[in-house]
This record gives sequence, structure tokens and C-alpha cells, in this order.
Amino acid sequence: MANDNLIAPSILSADFARLGEEVDNVLAAGADIVHFDVMDNHYVPNLTIGPLVCDALRKHGVTAPIDVHLMVSPVDRIVGDFAEAGATYITFHPEASQHIDRTLQLIRGAGCKSGLVFNPATPLSYLDYELENVDMVLLMSVNPGFGGQSFIPSALDKLRQARKIIDDSGLDIRLEIDGGVKANNIREIKEAGADTFVAGSAIFGAAKDSDPNRYDSIIQEFRAELAKAE
Ligand code: DX5
Ligand code: ZN
Repeated sequence: MANDNLIAPSILSADFARLGEEVDNVLAAGADIVHFDVMDNHYVPNLTIGPLVCDALRKHGVTAPIDVHLMVSPVDRIVGDFAEAGATYITFHPEASQHIDRTLQLIRGAGCKSGLVFNPATPLSYLDYELENVDMVLLMSVNPGFGGQSFIPSALDKLRQARKIIDDSGLDIRLEIDGGVKANNIREIKEAGADTFVAGSAIFGAAKDSDPNRYDSIIQEFRAELAKAE
């Protein structure tokens, strides 16, 4: 069972002009995986980064897992590009794929770990027949498209439900939460069942100076809060 806590800074809130350095700094500060938000101005009303940037981070020397969160439609055509670009996880929204099972197979077939992402109103029933084909369940605690939004409280109940589904299955599946995660709510999010914590604005907005250690204190604060969870 995957019970260790992983902190996954969302580079959506990083300084894109200095992205390699930002990722280096946040990993040096103790982050575990790099959350990489891909938006297409179609499935979501915003436009971000694609496989070239993932590849550039690998060439820059990033060896940590890269957690590619696809907010794009269609999904399938871009999967191979991200696998080649060095993605570790590729997660997608079931509403964005015509054939969910095929997309999951495509991701694993390309050598990546697969995951389904659930919007606040998306039912967990998409997992009913696909649990064995996912390595990650990602629950959105905001509507996808932007950083800096507030955590939607109903995500806590949904986390409890997802945690039970995963534990009952006995499968090794991570449970990730994305949106509005801060030092003041990460503990209750952990207690509701999450084991992988995406945070964009809380981490990259924590300090805006040129101190290379500026992400240490926020990540330490996250760890301290997580350690208090029961
Ligand atoms: C939103 C993205 C998130 C976003 C989270 O669509 O999926 O990963 O960066 O940002 P914060 O942590 O600021 O809510
Ligand atoms: Zn995300």
C-alpha cells in the first residue's frame, strides 16, 4: 500500500522564465515529484505547456518523477509524445477521452504510470471497471484550469470514498489531491485519505526572492502538518 506522503509542487505557479532552476530549487527543498499541468484552451479555458517543456526539464537534469496532468481533449494523440518526453505519470480526465480503457492501456503501454482525474462533480464510478488499470487516482478540489483557487470542501468526503475503494481493492494506487492545498488544510486532507499532495500557489507563491532556499520552510511546514495527521 502506498502510504508515504508525496509532495508534488505544481509548476503552473513557478516562474516559467526560470523553470529549470525553479524545479531544481523545489526538489532540493524536499519536494518528491513534479506536477506538470497541461492545458489546451479547449478542455479547460487556459493554455500552458506541452511535451517540449517536459523533455527540456529531463535534459536539464531533472530525475524526479514527473506527474503529467493532462487537461486536454482529445487525449490519446499526445500520450506517446509525453512518454517520449520523460513523463512518469500521465493522468487524464475521463470526460476528455472517447475510450477511457483504451487511453489507460495506451499510457501503460508507453511505459508510464496511468491515472484518472475526477473533477468536483465527476463520480468515482468511472473506477468501477478500471481500478486495475490505474496507478493514480487524482481528485480535483477545484475546477481545473487555474492555480490559486480555494479548496472545495466536498473533496474531503470524496477522498474518504476513494481511499476506501483503493484500500478494499488491495491494489497499489496513489490517491492524489489537486487544488487549494495549503499548510492550514493539508492535515485534514491527509486524514481524509490522500497520500500525494499537489500544491502550486502555496509553494511557489511562498517567497518571490532570489534565495535558493526559499521553498524549504513551506515544504517543512507541510511535512510538520502531515506528521500531525491521525
Ligand atoms: C489546476 C491545476 C492545479 C493547480 C493547483 O487546474 O490542476 O495543479 O496548479 O494550483 P493551486 O495549488 O494554487 O490550487
Ligand atoms: Zn494539476
